[in-house]
Amino acid sequence: MAAVDDQDALKRAAGVHAASYVTDGMRVGLGTGSTVRFTIEAIAAAGVDVDCTATSVQTRDLAVGLGLRVVAPDALGALDLAIDGADEVDPALNLTKGGGGALTREKVVAQMAARFVVVADESKLVDVLGGFGTPLEVLDFAPGAVEARLRDLGAASVSVRDVRSDNANLLVDARFGATITDPVALGTSLSAIAGVVEHGLFYGDTVERVVVAGTSGIRELTR
Ligand code: A5P
Repeated sequence: MAAVDDQDALKRAAGVHAASYVTDGMRVGLGTGSTVRFTIEAIAAAGVDVDCTATSVQTRDLAVGLGLRVVAPDALGALDLAIDGADEVDPALNLTKGGGGALTREKVVAQMAARFVVVADESKLVDVLGGFGTPLEVLDFAPGAVEARLRDLGAASVSVRDVRSDNANLLVDARFGATITDPVALGTSLSAIAGVVEHGLFYGDTVERVVVAGTSGIRELTR
């Protein structure tokens, strides 16, 4: 239990730190997960006057419950800042996301934002992406055909989760192993598979900074 508690403390430290980037008047994208949850709580506690959009039903419910103003993405048009967690971060700030199944809405919101800030504890730092698995949102039409294409691309195994996305699509995990040295190349191939709604590889050139909490404190990774 101690290790879990420690990781929670690191998630809190990273999450709270990132809330300092949120100031009055901003339009803010709120990510999903157990790290950015602390950011959302800290934004609400700070009482800043912001307009928010959420990357999942879970986050919307949390933020609304905390008294934040949350509207649909298109009601804001563009975002000043999006803050979200990650499952893996490589040295070029490429990310694996989607452990919580919200990858498509997370990517839409990240792409709307002038600044994309990621919050993570140091356990998320990896040399090469892929050990976590690569989450995908997949149309529930021919998942077997999609699986075959994923295997063609080198996935050693492919599994479908029991839960669906907020968009009512399948959530699939493809396991390429820690071999994804060129996330843009793999991401491009994944996007080319008909039936793949979105994949959980987020490219480092879209990330402004990663706030990392470790046992020796907070550091910020930038490219
Ligand atoms: C949600 O779909 C994910 O992309 C999360 O952002 C990611 O899984 C990180 O979650 P934690 O902060 O809970 O580790």
